[in-house]
Amino acid sequence: MLEVNDENPARRASDLRVRPTEARIDTAALAHNLREARKAAPTARVLAVVKADGYGHGAVMAARTFMDAGADWLGVALVEEGIALRNAGLTAPVLALGGQYNDYELLLQHRLTPLVYRAEMFDALAAAARERGVLADAHLKLDTGMGRIGVLPRDLPALLEHARGVKEVRLTGLCSHFANADLRDPTATQLALDEFAAAKRAMKALGFPLELAHLANSAATLDLKASHHEMVRPGLMLYGSAPAPRFSGLADLRPALTWATEILHLKRVTAGTPISYGHKWTARRESVIATLPVGYADGFRRSLTNRSEVLVCGRRVPQIGTVCMDMMMIDVTDVADSAQIGSEVILLGAQGEERIDAGEMAQRCDTISYEIFCAIGARVPRTTL
Ligand SMILES: Cc1ncc(COP(=O)(O)O)c(C=O)c1O
Repeated sequence: MLEVNDENPARRASDLRVRPTEARIDTAALAHNLREARKAAPTARVLAVVKADGYGHGAVMAARTFMDAGADWLGVALVEEGIALRNAGLTAPVLALGGQYNDYELLLQHRLTPLVYRAEMFDALAAAARERGVLADAHLKLDTGMGRIGVLPRDLPALLEHARGVKEVRLTGLCSHFANADLRDPTATQLALDEFAAAKRAMKALGFPLELAHLANSAATLDLKASHHEMVRPGLMLYGSAPAPRFSGLADLRPALTWATEILHLKRVTAGTPISYGHKWTARRESVIATLPVGYADGFRRSLTNRSEVLVCGRRVPQIGTVCMDMMMIDVTDVADSAQIGSEVILLGAQGEERIDAGEMAQRCDTISYEIFCAIGARVPRTTL
């Protein structure tokens, strides 16, 4: 039993776990999915993307699991995220994908590899490397149609010319990112592949010590062999979700996250009884309504109001009435014989024969499964199975 008291100030109140709402992470599923990525790209190395707190699953736990399962690199967005991995004792190579570094000394101190794509980034990294008396590895970021960060192909020759004069920086990688790998139309993806291959040839011809060229996200890892080069960079698939329904048959992906809670309150209401803010739901029959201790502040989106289902007693039941900040209601009339205060309720994951996955929840509120995972709030404890 955890206690918060003066003798144990390190314990946070949130560790007490009074509320039974949690995200259970199946580490065996994460490890399995990593192996599926390796199977899909057998000749490439695998960089496991653990940015955004491991897509909401818990970055340190996910990173450890992926490394134990055979990942070669880890990918984060922020320098801060990379340092958090180092502080937790992870020693694997870490690529900082976000493209904002500012303090290059901090980057070198924690052995994080940056993406460089402007002349002054080479100069700043070189200055920090000189100061430390080391050579700094970096990966060149090419913009092949994402339009986000990276050097445009037409500006590449000038940047490579500059890079040749910066002796403290070793360009050991070339990197890009697909904008459309999950779409059916291959036109933009083929253009990206061609531009990437041309850049790789140019860098090799100029004698850069290029070891790793990489641009494949989950969709391309699963379905585009030509994109694998020396390394793939899957994220979403490692957490058990396919980037679009058409990819789900290409690997055995196992959802790793179960979002669970328990019934907080139960009541029988007469037909005509309205429920929650704005009275956007009214009972059409005598109904049994359960209240759950979870709401939009936990990441159960308010736009799911009256549009989603949860699992109770092995059955799907509707969410009803406006989702509140900390609570929401569900209609358990059809399972009234077995639902009780304290009955387990699954928001995401499986119960009995039923399953609700992030793709389904995303579709119901017009977003993508990435956002569903990332939105599960910090106040929902992550536990491991
Ligand atoms: C630069 C970069 N590489 C790789 C990934 C992984 O993509 P996915 O989660 O679709 O596999 C992402 C995710 O957004 C990314 O931004």
